[in-house]
Amino acid sequence: MSHNTIAINQRMDKFDGHESVWLFGYGSLIFKADFPFIERRPASITGWTRRFWQGSHDHRGTETAPGRVVTLVPDPGQVCHGMAYLVTPEEFAHLDHREKNGYLRLATEIAFEGAGSVEGLVYIATHENAAYLGPASERDIARQIAASRGPSGPNSEYLLELAQALRELGKFDPHVFEIERHLREFMAG
Ligand code: BEZ
Repeated sequence: MSHNTIAINQRMDKFDGHESVWLFGYGSLIFKADFPFIERRPASITGWTRRFWQGSHDHRGTETAPGRVVTLVPDPGQVCHGMAYLVTPEEFAHLDHREKNGYLRLATEIAFEGAGSVEGLVYIATHENAAYLGPASERDIARQIAASRGPSGPNSEYLLELAQALRELGKFDPHVFEIERHLREFMAG
């Protein structure tokens, strides 16, 4: 699969005709909602785990020195916490462009914190996409993040903002927080 997923995402017609759609955010969407939304609510999806396994050539790294950003990997029974946004379908054109480096829209059940659930969308970069980097130790991931920067800024900023946003949600993510611990060690020299 090529890096650019815009055309594939635009063929996704599941919510055509809907006035609004819930979108689950588990990465940059938690701390960077640079799009209009009608409402947002802390939420989770089940069966997935957040991992810094996706390469970023266009936002937090470059073609020759990719950074690392999060994707979701299948993990039966696991719950991934994040933030759900209610958006109009037009916002997906913007998001397809922003997340064109391998992320595909997937329909999923989104559970709101407290009560209730709804079918919505999530963007996932699978192991089949060309920018996928896959597993590495948390220490090696932190080292790569410490060294990477792209048009959207330092890769370290992405990690630190995500970790802070998860703390503010009251959610503990061992993978993210362990990478943050190593990164802070590297940054302290
Ligand atoms: C998110 O924060 O949900 C997200 C992460 C990567 C790509 C698109 C969305």
